[in-house]
Amino acid sequence: MRKIGNVFGETYSKRLSYIRELYANEDELLKNIRLYGEANDRPININPEEGKLLQVLIKLHKPKVVIEIGTLYGYSTIWMVRAIENGEIYTIDRQDCNIEKAEQNFAKLENNLGKKINLIHGDAQEVLKNLNVQADMLFIDADKINYLNYLNWAENGGVRKGGLVVADNVMLSGAVYMDSLPERVRITAKNNMIEFNKRLANPEKYESIILNTEEGLSISIVV
Ligand code: DHB
Ligand code: MG
Repeated sequence: MRKIGNVFGETYSKRLSYIRELYANEDELLKNIRLYGEANDRPININPEEGKLLQVLIKLHKPKVVIEIGTLYGYSTIWMVRAIENGEIYTIDRQDCNIEKAEQNFAKLENNLGKKINLIHGDAQEVLKNLNVQADMLFIDADKINYLNYLNWAENGGVRKGGLVVADNVMLSGAVYMDSLPERVRITAKNNMIEFNKRLANPEKYESIILNTEEGLSISIVV
């Protein structure tokens, strides 16, 4: 679990536990994926309440095609696929070890839900170029330096009008509003993310908000 308590304080962390226990319970599969990430020093999944939020968005928006950039071990994919009634997910990752782990996790899904997931191994920009589908919903949670490139793809017809663009990490560890550069954040990534957020803030193109999570989660409707 990302350490939200450290960023927002103890009261916030208690409120979050309350929400998680009541509304965003993980089953064994999701819990084990999170524990695997923590054990391997990569606790970088979205959090359970963010997974639940994706489910609520999917129930509201009823996308037939969801594209996820950045599968990791499939944690967010599993939250999403469980909310899809009539549709499928394309999820893209370029790392062999992520693909292997995600595949194993999808095989454990109940009710043949794995059949609704198209797991694609490759560089997202290349994959998107050749993927002949238009997304009703795009979820970006991958290499931060390329968020702008993914948005360019979305704007060039990758996501339909009225579709959703959701992105994790849009605060980039605070880089987008801080004068100094946080550890491990490159200036190019910072500048790109600032531009990404500015573009999503344009009311002629999007209806957007950033949720004030630890890393920032943006939700935008393509106008
Ligand atoms: C990192 C990536 C993420 O998507 C995230 O939510 C947190 C951290 C990372 O690469 O460090
Ligand atoms: Mg993320």
